[in-house]
Amino acid sequence: MSEKAGKRESGTAVRSSASRTDVGPVAPTRLAASPLDTGRLRVDFPILDRRIRGKRLVYLDNAATTQKPRAVIDAVSHFYTHENANIHRGVHHLSDRATVAYDEVRQKTARFLNARSPREVVFTRGTTDSINLVAQSYGRAFLTAGDEILITGMEHHSNIVPWQLLCEQTGAVLRAVPLNSAGELELEQFAHLLNERTRLVAVVHLSNALGTINPVKHLIGLAHVRNIPVLIDGAQSAPHLPLDVQELDCDFLAFSGHKLFGPTGVGVLYGRESLLERMPPCQGGGGMIETVTLERSSWAPIPAKFEAGTPMIAQAIGLGAAIDYVSQVGLPAIAAWEKILLDYATHLCNRIDGVRIIGTAQDKAAVLSFVLDGVHPHDVGTILDYDGIAVRAGHHCAQPVMRHFGVPATVRASFAFYNTKEEVEVLADSLVRVRRIFG
Ligand code: ALA
Repeated sequence: MSEKAGKRESGTAVRSSASRTDVGPVAPTRLAASPLDTGRLRVDFPILDRRIRGKRLVYLDNAATTQKPRAVIDAVSHFYTHENANIHRGVHHLSDRATVAYDEVRQKTARFLNARSPREVVFTRGTTDSINLVAQSYGRAFLTAGDEILITGMEHHSNIVPWQLLCEQTGAVLRAVPLNSAGELELEQFAHLLNERTRLVAVVHLSNALGTINPVKHLIGLAHVRNIPVLIDGAQSAPHLPLDVQELDCDFLAFSGHKLFGPTGVGVLYGRESLLERMPPCQGGGGMIETVTLERSSWAPIPAKFEAGTPMIAQAIGLGAAIDYVSQVGLPAIAAWEKILLDYATHLCNRIDGVRIIGTAQDKAAVLSFVLDGVHPHDVGTILDYDGIAVRAGHHCAQPVMRHFGVPATVRASFAFYNTKEEVEVLADSLVRVRRIFG
């Protein structure tokens, strides 16, 4: 055992201030006062009061899904209690109210993303659904054999598999930008892999497995020089970074409601209006048509063209409440606080013998992935759970990332604005306990 581990593990009360002293002082410049009143905000999230096996819940699995503020829970409950009806179909009062509420969320989402128009906002089931929509609509309409789609080596499976399916269907070819040892994109390779056959670029903004923030504006600029449209997987960035689709100049952007403190089952595809107009629908049914005869049909204007069937009405209303909530807290303040949390967690984990952080990019947010020498990540996760700490252990639906780092899985602590420095300390102390258990 190294000296630093010996010092770290010598304390008995792992949550005492003495055990924190063991890991050494934290540089004060990295730990400025919270720009958020986290204590007040936590009150808005009823689940954060829960106890797990007698311990206070420390919820650090926010990259998988975030907890819901009372405002979101109440909005969904209020809708079902007072306003439930189908939309765009009835002449009755409730249908009219539900239609107005649903359409207002689309406008709100457009403002949240700074889209030029609500017509550029398609409601989907989530990020995965949004990416599949682009693959099956844009991809099948405009890509042919030999065309190339460029992704990266740090994509979630949801930004790999839809393109693989498209390649099987069309004969297109999938290429991937490699990563360096820190888990950053090899930017020269990105430029090198763009060529006259590239028809689409699809890049994650913030890696769910590594926390790397990719320089997407720069990448979009490089692709646009060649008139190649770019899809941004914003599943992880939407809850952590301010997004502005006009400033980024992206062509598509996908995110999920449930990672943005909203309900499951609803997400968003932002699409540049000129592209959405040209794309065929990929699902048929009610709501997406203009006229139907037994011989042929014509399509509703965008975005309805892409929303076949009864949509996720209550979930969209919950998403609207989530967007209001996050906007009130403010994404710049959220990003600043989470940076403090991530830096603190990184600092504490680096002091624990045997911890190896996976993903050490210069530009990171909200995700701390690591392995502990000699202990399987699932065992780490199980012991943390006994201390009331919820983390994810596994490949995080990013098996190519695990392969790149030569690990089968990692432990991942992922933060939200309601997390506290005390919770980071609970995590570090529990990891010390794991080390002690496994010798
Ligand atoms: N994509 C989610 C995660 O990273 C489920 O955990």
